Amino acid sequence: MTAASQILDRVLVLEMVRVTEAAAIAAAKLIGRGDEKAADAAAVEAMRAALNELYMDGTVVIGEGERDEAPMLFIGEKVGSAIGTGPKIDIALDPLEGTTITAKAGPNALAVLAVAEKGNLLNAPDVYMDKIAVGPGYSPNIVNLNKSVAENVAAVAAEKGVPPQDLIVCVLDRPRHEKMIAELREIGCGVMLIPDGDVAGVIATTNPDTTVDIYMGSGGAPEGVLAAAALRCVGGQFKGRLLFRNDDERQRARKWGIEDLDKIYDLEELAKGDCIFAATGVTHGSLLEGVKTLRDGRVTTESVVMRASSGTVRWVKSEHRKADRLG
Ligand code: FBP
Repeated sequence: MTAASQILDRVLVLEMVRVTEAAAIAAAKLIGRGDEKAADAAAVEAMRAALNELYMDGTVVIGEGERDEAPMLFIGEKVGSAIGTGPKIDIALDPLEGTTITAKAGPNALAVLAVAEKGNLLNAPDVYMDKIAVGPGYSPNIVNLNKSVAENVAAVAAEKGVPPQDLIVCVLDRPRHEKMIAELREIGCGVMLIPDGDVAGVIATTNPDTTVDIYMGSGGAPEGVLAAAALRCVGGQFKGRLLFRNDDERQRARKWGIEDLDKIYDLEELAKGDCIFAATGVTHGSLLEGVKTLRDGRVTTESVVMRASSGTVRWVKSEHRKADRLG
């Protein structure tokens, strides 16, 4: 069992929800407006302001990009109200996971973050990551990125006690996944194609209501670390391998201290020790309800916050009297 971190004080667990709530509410004003950038910018600004109110010496280790690419919440940016004096905390964040979904008013856009003690989150470069995940209850290493699609499906089906055709596999709908999707169809599995949002896709494997048994395919490496932090809290397995398209991407990885570029990362190597994961729904989804504005102007949000050391999962439904000033 993971030891509880004194640094990730209990108070901080609930405070994290205020941060994701702020980002979700800001982004929600731009749902369906066809403007990914504006939705993202609103979420970033709100999340940054909320983080800066927290008593901590925080460092963004996964953020909006490198300093020259992102004006706010860039990798290495210090956040918190006690820089130099407060608890040293590393933060992986995605103020709006699903920018295109939000712009098109699709499902499963989230505001997410994960926090851990300094040095405990993989500083993943912004490259792709090959991912495979299953929910809790399976033998260790039941899925393996070095095995074929058919072998992974067969292993999970055998332990679940169903024929492989009965499994539902969630995959990002991308041309690069055509071969994988064809193999899954050949086996006869149900393939749940999602347009975006693989943090929610991975977490879906942990929730029987979604019917998703396995998540497979490549998506952003930063999203991989965020999803891994969530699975550290709720259980399940995740394997990730960075994918590089060119030397520039390999250089980026080396710059963040990654030496073995072919390494397959396990959950604990992506998010070590005690960690907290928080998410608030922006649009309606399998994990969370989206932000809703009531007729009298009140705004409701649904969030989840969980902690690795205790395994406690808190579902938080909030009602905000004033959307621009969270209590
Ligand atoms: P954004 O919110 O940054 O647009 O990311 C959405 C997302 O679907 C992630 O969930 C996923 O990891 C990544 O994009 C996949 O990248 P790509 O769209 O290049 O396939």
